Amino acid sequence: MSSAELHSLFRKILMRVAVDTPPSTPPTLEPLELPTLCDGRHPAGIVHEDFSALHGSGGYLARMAHFEAASVAAFMHLAAELDDLGAPLNLIEQAKQAARDEVVHAHSVAALAKARGARPPVPRLTPPPLRTLEEVAAENAAEGCVREAFGALVGLYQSVHAKADDVRATMRTVAQDEIAHAALSFELHRHFLSRLDGEARARVEARREQALAELLHRAFSFEDAPWRDELGLPAADALFDLARAFREELAAA
Ligand SMILES: [Fe+2]
Ligand SMILES: [Fe+2]
Repeated sequence: MSSAELHSLFRKILMRVAVDTPPSTPPTLEPLELPTLCDGRHPAGIVHEDFSALHGSGGYLARMAHFEAASVAAFMHLAAELDDLGAPLNLIEQAKQAARDEVVHAHSVAALAKARGARPPVPRLTPPPLRTLEEVAAENAAEGCVREAFGALVGLYQSVHAKADDVRATMRTVAQDEIAHAALSFELHRHFLSRLDGEARARVEARREQALAELLHRAFSFEDAPWRDELGLPAADALFDLARAFREELAAA
């Protein structure tokens, strides 16, 4: 599926969810732990940070910028693994382009955070060694085709709904790029499956199914934040509807 086709599929999901979900009032208290939703591709080997001092919309954006910066390493490592596995040059080049996009995202989302008084923690990584084709395929299936791709859908939602002009403008660029990264993940998925035997293919598909189930679970337990409208984040109910529609549309794609 091309980036343009994925974009129109995501627009269709957003419209479907907008029709089905009645508007709700944001809560007054912030949840203790609020996972960031649109934040690029998490690299294997990322060191867990303490985010307990990062509150409010600025804190959310600082956590997001932290993971955007980590995504640079994720795509550079992916490009190195693709090279090691003898993947076509255009896939390696697309992974490198995604790394360049993530540099821009890290800077632009960090600027949004700093404008709100928050500073993103610099990501620390213990990069894993180059992995086997099946290992890279399994991670791409879960992290690229599900988590980052769903993040792209949420990013598109934010680019439409954010009340803050600076967030809406930044998320337009971020969402566009993240959709391209999701399209790359799907292309990589097809490439990997074509090179794996039947049993390995089934294990990779099972990993994707598992990631979709985890996504639904995460969306189900997501709590709403008082400043969700400023950032254009979906309300908890809408997020679950988005995750369900994402799973249905991807299963049919
Ligand atoms: Fe990103
Ligand atoms: Fe990305």
